[in-house]
Amino acid sequence: MATAPGRVLIVDDEEHIRKIMSIMLTKRGYHCRTAESAKEALRIVAKETFDVVFSDLNMPGMDGLGLLAQLRSEVPDTLVIMVTAFASIDTAIKAMKEGAYDYIAKPFDEEEIVLVLEKALERGRLLDENKRLKREISERRDANVFLGQSAAISKVFDIIAKVAETKATVLIIGESGTGKELAARSIHQNGPRADRPFVAVNCGAIPQNLMESEFFGYVKGAFTGAERAKTGLVAEADGGTLFLDEVSELPLEMQVKLLRVLQEEEVKKIGENTPRKVDLRVLAATNKNLKEEVAMGRFREDLYYRLNVISLRMPPLRERPEDIPMLATHFLAQAVTKNNLQPKRMAPAALRVMAAQTWNGNVRALKNVVEQAAIMSDGPVIGPDDLPFNLTPRTFNPGAEAPLDAPIVRIPKDWIDLKAAVKTVTELAETEIIGRALSLNGGNRTRTAEALGLSRRALITKIALYDLDNYAPDNLENNPSGEKSAQPDADDQNGPAL
Ligand SMILES: Nc1ncnc2c1ncn2[C@@H]1O[C@H](COP(=O)(O)OP(=O)(O)OP(=O)(O)O)[C@@H](O)[C@H]1O
Ligand SMILES: [Mg+2]
Repeated sequence: MATAPGRVLIVDDEEHIRKIMSIMLTKRGYHCRTAESAKEALRIVAKETFDVVFSDLNMPGMDGLGLLAQLRSEVPDTLVIMVTAFASIDTAIKAMKEGAYDYIAKPFDEEEIVLVLEKALERGRLLDENKRLKREISERRDANVFLGQSAAISKVFDIIAKVAETKATVLIIGESGTGKELAARSIHQNGPRADRPFVAVNCGAIPQNLMESEFFGYVKGAFTGAERAKTGLVAEADGGTLFLDEVSELPLEMQVKLLRVLQEEEVKKIGENTPRKVDLRVLAATNKNLKEEVAMGRFREDLYYRLNVISLRMPPLRERPEDIPMLATHFLAQAVTKNNLQPKRMAPAALRVMAAQTWNGNVRALKNVVEQAAIMSDGPVIGPDDLPFNLTPRTFNPGAEAPLDAPIVRIPKDWIDLKAAVKTVTELAETEIIGRALSLNGGNRTRTAEALGLSRRALITKIALYDLDNYAPDNLENNPSGEKSAQPDADDQNGPAL
């Protein structure tokens, strides 16, 4: 496999060394730059990425060890090779302990440099590959994570748990981005067919003239151009689950044919005389009102009843704002891994802004917004200002939708779980207040606890609960009174809620 040439930065205060190394490496096809001081090197790495830095140990100003420390923290993926005079081998070994990848001693010859460099580049490639694999694994695992704590989503989980074991057809209804496909995958994964195929068909994406051959397959020579036999989606799903996504988009004639397959549990390839049995579990999803489609004559009633044995409604996000902090936190972690970012967290204020949005695009839109903010924000904390500005706050406008004499609209029990919502709001407020108090008290836990009227132990519990270690790292406990060892906590109970 061809790989890009290695990018190398040579840092040495002696011009002739820089020249020799740079000529040696450039003629072998490496991309080289040079810097005459640690300071200049840091300016260059801030703008350009290097695989390897060769750094002299003894330089005026910041020396090689100083540069090494800076490089380790600013560009941890870049490998550093120390270049040293024989006299300072001890320092070179110290440098390796502090994270240098290797060292070479002056005077060096060309072969030696290239050997060490190639070894480093190979190591860099392995590290990259390793990272990529880890990312892939976690992306695949994350793709099926199904989160939520609201009453509305808990009800969905209950239904999924019940139907997963069965072969019943489920019609999953919900607005765009509410998690219909995720629900379908979850039904499949939690049932006895989990290790059989899950075949998802986007009924709106198959051109009408190809539909039949996509669904049912064909034998070789069935029509001009059928040079090889094709299995077809229905047969592919045999023993597993066939997920008919956007099922309302099926043309009427295809609806008839599909209904027959589902009823008889057998499929015939185009050009084949005898049908063969298939064992299918069918799930379907739609963001349209299928009953209305039936009424309009666009969807067959018999297929509707065949699909809608059990209906599962995915609640829109605005009906379950309590789930937003949890989802946003999860999507942030996911975006960080996926895009190879430094760890980040959400400021409570940003979570509050998100919890107050309408989210017409539902969970998918939330996921996109969080990923966008993760990429665009600079620091480790995502604040409200890092969110895209085109979010639309939910507005409550009583009376605007219903005239005064309209009958009272009963709110379904599962519409919003007030208790859960109150809990979430309390948690958000606590996170913000404790975070602020910690900052004001320089991270000192005893003083912060006192300021908030909490026991120290209760505060520590909350710091762990809300992940506030950034505000109060253990080593920040500057502790003039020596309280850490001396003073046991006054009370062991959790303090009062704030
Ligand atoms: N409860 C949830 N927990 C975690 N991730 C979720 C949840 N709901 C949805 N997602 C994620 O949001 C995205 C959209 O979900 P999905 O594709 O299942 O929605 P959909 O209803 O099929 O959307 P569409 O109607 O646009 O096809 C996916 O990345 C999915 O993993
Ligand atoms: Mg979908």
